[in-house]
Amino acid sequence: MAGDAREVVQVDSVVKDFRPGFGLRTKRVLHGVSFSVREGEIFGFVGPNGAGKTTTLKVLMGLIKATSGRATILGCDVAQTEFRRHIGFLPENPYFYSFLTAREILNFYAKLSGVPSAGRRDRVDTLLNWVGLEHAADARLRTYSKGMLQRVGVAQALVHNPRVIFLDEPMSGLDPLGRKEIRDVVLRLKREGKTVFMNTHILSDVEMICDRVAIIVDGVIRYQGRIEDFLIEDELWSDVVLSGLSVEATTHIEEAFDARFHGVGERIEIRIRDKDVSAVLQIALAAGAEVISLSQHRVSLETIFIDAVERSEGGGGES
Ligand SMILES: Nc1ncnc2c1ncn2[C@@H]1O[C@H](COP(=O)(O)OP(=O)(O)OP(=O)(O)O)[C@@H](O)[C@H]1O
Ligand SMILES: [Mg+2]
Repeated sequence: MAGDAREVVQVDSVVKDFRPGFGLRTKRVLHGVSFSVREGEIFGFVGPNGAGKTTTLKVLMGLIKATSGRATILGCDVAQTEFRRHIGFLPENPYFYSFLTAREILNFYAKLSGVPSAGRRDRVDTLLNWVGLEHAADARLRTYSKGMLQRVGVAQALVHNPRVIFLDEPMSGLDPLGRKEIRDVVLRLKREGKTVFMNTHILSDVEMICDRVAIIVDGVIRYQGRIEDFLIEDELWSDVVLSGLSVEATTHIEEAFDARFHGVGERIEIRIRDKDVSAVLQIALAAGAEVISLSQHRVSLETIFIDAVERSEGGGGES
């Protein structure tokens, strides 16, 4: 085992079986899940509905017990309780007493988790500000929209200034502005040196803020690492936009490289492998074409995600 001291969360071959009911067959939901989260990073745990994200998080939070395997947070086995003062948790469907206000509820959780009374009011004000709820702080939660309740949930996870924060679908139910606010909160936590683990299937949010991701499909980790690292050199593509490319040059490029052409007439867009960029540009320029733009084509997380799901449908996922 590579015991990197900077690994804040370590999940090692975790298996989880559920027995759906008396007489029913055991259902294996996690098939030996392993991954690790490093100190100070934002880690995205991504997967389709039913993949096992919440189950994994429940194992980490000590809410359910793994059938086998081991998970540690801050070096402590998740069955222990002492380390939990250092972690914050937003559950998938948080429930709050609807007759309390956001300020009251945050104050309540701050008290519950031992925030000293002297700093409590300031802490609550700060959190209300971070999640954009200052204006509604004194309204009862029953008057809140889904997105507003989600923000209360995020703030609640942070009251005691934890070192590691676990968020199950923090952007769920939020509009684009609300999602940006939560992303900003997460980035702020990172700047403060915190570690954030988040379950989500909103891939654009993951791309924007996560340092590393793991993709889980049918209880199996399919990818783990930085998004860029998923791509092997050969799969990096660039888009070149040219004008005035002659028919001969077009044919030449088409035949010599694995190029994909778009557009007709004056403006032609060609997608080529990064390693072919210089050669293609030389041919185009020599043929009198003009380069309008050149940009690297970013393979999106969505491509990787769909690929992982499709590969898994092709095989694997035994039960
Ligand atoms: N208590 C349980 N008993 C039986 N099966 C369960 C139980 N909890 C979860 N499951 C099953 O485990 C699988 C994974 O569920 P989980 O909630 O972890 O998925 P998820 O990745 O969080 O999905 P979502 O994106 O929809 O939140 C699902 O097939 C679910 O039906
Ligand atoms: Mg879930």
